[in-house]
Amino acid sequence: MLILGIESSCDETAAAVLRDGHALLSNVINSQVALHSAYGGVVPELASRKHLENIYPVVEAALRQAGVSLAEIEGIAVTQGPGLIGSLLIGLSFAKTISAVQGIPYVGVDHIVGHLLSPFLEEEKPEFPYVALIASGGHSSLFLVQDALTFIPLGRTRDDAAGEAFDKVGKILGLPYPGGPAISRLAREGNPGAFSFPRAWLEADSLDFSFSGLKTAVAGQVYQLQQKGEPFSAADICASFQEAVVEVLAEKAIRAAQGHGIANLTLAGGVAANPRLREYLKLRGTENGLKVFMPSPEFCTDNAAMIALAGHFHFGECATTSLDTDAYSRSQFIHPGTPGSRHSYGPAWQRSRP
Ligand code: KG4
Ligand code: ZN
Repeated sequence: MLILGIESSCDETAAAVLRDGHALLSNVINSQVALHSAYGGVVPELASRKHLENIYPVVEAALRQAGVSLAEIEGIAVTQGPGLIGSLLIGLSFAKTISAVQGIPYVGVDHIVGHLLSPFLEEEKPEFPYVALIASGGHSSLFLVQDALTFIPLGRTRDDAAGEAFDKVGKILGLPYPGGPAISRLAREGNPGAFSFPRAWLEADSLDFSFSGLKTAVAGQVYQLQQKGEPFSAADICASFQEAVVEVLAEKAIRAAQGHGIANLTLAGGVAANPRLREYLKLRGTENGLKVFMPSPEFCTDNAAMIALAGHFHFGECATTSLDTDAYSRSQFIHPGTPGSRHSYGPAWQRSRP
C-alpha cells in the first residue's frame, strides 16, 4: 500500500511517502525554527499561518521526491493530535480534502503513537512486546507496547518534559532555541562531573519522571556564579545537566523493562536525537541484557515518516477515520495519567471498520 504521511502538530510541516510499511520513498520536513527562535519558543498563531503556506509545497515535494503522483496514493495518514490545535487543523484539513477529492481513505494518527512506532523505520526492527521511552518537547513517558495498537502507560513526567527542560536550560544560558541540540553540541566540550545536579529518582518503585527541580538547580547555580562574577564554563553546565537527564531517563527505562520481564527496549522522541542519551542507553541496556532499538536522529524529531508508518499499521487493521473527526490538543487514546491501565488505541476509528 502506498501511504502519504502528513505531520503538522507543532512547528514542523512534514510529508512522507511510504510503500508497504518498509520502503520510505521520501521524507520532507520544513522546520519553522528560524521563525520562532526570535521569541524563544513556538508562537501558536505564527505556526499555524506558516503551516498554511507550507503544506501544499511540502506535500508536492514529498510526492515529487518519491516519484509518484497523487493519483497513485492509496491512503493518507495524518497527525490528529496531540499538539497545537491551529497547527493540527492545517494538516488534518489538507488530508481530509485529498481523501474526499481522490476518493481514498485517510486515518488520524496520534503523534505519540507515531513516536512509539518510529523504531520500525529502521532495518533492524524491535519485536513486540517492548518497553518504549518517549522523550520529547511535550512528553517524557514510559510505555509497554504490546502490539502496534496497544500501549500500557508505565510512567510519565510529573512536571516538565525532558525536552522542555533542555529548552529552558538553553534559555537560562542564552543559547539559541531550541536548547536541546545547542546543549548537546556544547556538552561535548564540557565535563559532566563539573557540577553535581540533582537526579529525581522519586519513590523506589516509581517509573515517573520529574525535571523541574533539576532545571531550578541549574538556574540557581548559574545565578550564583553570575552574582559572584566568577567566570564559568557553559559547556560544563551543559554536560553536567545533560548527564543528570540522561542518567534518570535511561536507568528508569531499563528498570521498567526489567520489572516487566521485557527484553526489548526502544527510545524515541526529539530528545532521542541526543548522542549522549543514545550512547548511554545502548551501553547500559546491553550490560543489563536488553536489546536496545532507536530510530536514526532524523526520525527522532518530528517527521511524517513515523506518521505514515503508524498509518500502515492502522490500515492493516482496516482502520479509517471519518471526515467529521476533529483534531485534539491532548491525547485521547493514550492516558499517561493512569499508569498500569491498559489502553487499546483508536476506539474512534475502530467503530468505522467495515
Ligand atoms: O519530538 P519533537 O521534535 O517534538 C515534540 O513532539 O515535542 O521534540 C522536540 C524536543 C525539543 O525540546 C528539543 O530541544 C529536543 O526535542 N531535542 C533535543 C535534541 N534534539 C532535539 N534534546 C536534547 N538533545 C538533542 N540533540
Ligand atoms: Zn514529537
